Amino acid sequence: MKQHSEIEGVAATTNPGTIAASSPREIELANHLCQQIHDVISGRRFFDKYSVDAMCMRILLMIGAIQGYFREERPDDKAALIENLRDILEGMEECKLYDPEIRSFFLETVRYLETTPLCGSLQRFGWNGEELSEAALRIPTMLCKETQGYYKWLARTFEGPGDIVELGCWMGSTTACLAEGLSQKLWRGRRTIHVYDSFIWRDWMKIYTEDAELLAANMCEGDSFLDYFWSYAKPYRDVIEVHQSVVPTGREQSALQSLEWRAGQIGILVMDLADDRASNEAVWRIFSPSFQSGCTIIVFNQFGNIPAGEVREFCREKNLELVPLHKPCGSAKAFRYQTAANDIGKSGR
Ligand SMILES: C[S@@+](CC[C@H](N)C(=O)[O-])C[C@H]1O[C@@H](n2cnc3c(N)ncnc32)[C@H](O)[C@@H]1O
Repeated sequence: MKQHSEIEGVAATTNPGTIAASSPREIELANHLCQQIHDVISGRRFFDKYSVDAMCMRILLMIGAIQGYFREERPDDKAALIENLRDILEGMEECKLYDPEIRSFFLETVRYLETTPLCGSLQRFGWNGEELSEAALRIPTMLCKETQGYYKWLARTFEGPGDIVELGCWMGSTTACLAEGLSQKLWRGRRTIHVYDSFIWRDWMKIYTEDAELLAANMCEGDSFLDYFWSYAKPYRDVIEVHQSVVPTGREQSALQSLEWRAGQIGILVMDLADDRASNEAVWRIFSPSFQSGCTIIVFNQFGNIPAGEVREFCREKNLELVPLHKPCGSAKAFRYQTAANDIGKSGR
């Protein structure tokens, strides 16, 4: 007897149960896969783990495992992950799935994992109980809850000198977390949060836009969202300084001012602008002369994301200057800056 699928709006020949799928493409793929699973279970089809479709599913699962590893970076998980990556590379050869992009992603991940030492002293806890105000929680965000708590904790507990720099604020969620942490400091002195963004709307941002007001605005590619940022960030206006500017990577022309830094020492820098090498290098060129050795904390918010291989590579190459410090669960990873041993004496820092 044929049953109807409960996948939204699409009829399938068997019942795969309820699946929450978000786009017609996802629904179509889920239906197709469910059909295959049912065929295998009922014996209508033999499951060949080296068939191209099975291989593609294994590749997706492998990517999920890589993502999972970088969320937590548990030292005990590393060896098994490398072994599984080698297995899948062999499997791809065996089933003649010659895809240079997938292969090079896996090879680079293996190389990164093998050449980056385990860091047993990474702090992973301490910020779980942080509470944010209603005003902060209503801001549309690309952060997970734990990372939000981490930013509040970081701003409150950081004892060194210098201002806070936040690169890539979008609607101001990180800004709010940092500002609320700062406001709870017993003595915050005159510390300011310098917030940078182009404030230019891009269509991909819609995925993170659940707020009714923002959805109603129906913004288009290229529109400015600065007014929306201010509508969310108003409660924090006394501690923030906002800079509408772009990273000078030399790739794009922009009427906006290029990112620059004229203030003094930097205590904390949160980088959440982009995951490409050129942006990270430009940011380093502009801000690192104001880092304090043994003191400044730099957070790469996108560090653990799958497409952020260039961020991880950048941090690995700078391992003499970037010492792993905090790992909140999620994509972010924080480092303490130190002057590279071979630079001591050159800069006088
Ligand atoms: C991943 S989002 C940041 C999310 C945000 N930190 C949060 O708390 O939800 C990246 C932000 O960087 C900005 N951005 C991306 N590329 C940029 C560039 N080249 N120059 C300036 N801003 C840029 C985008 O406008 C966007 O707001």
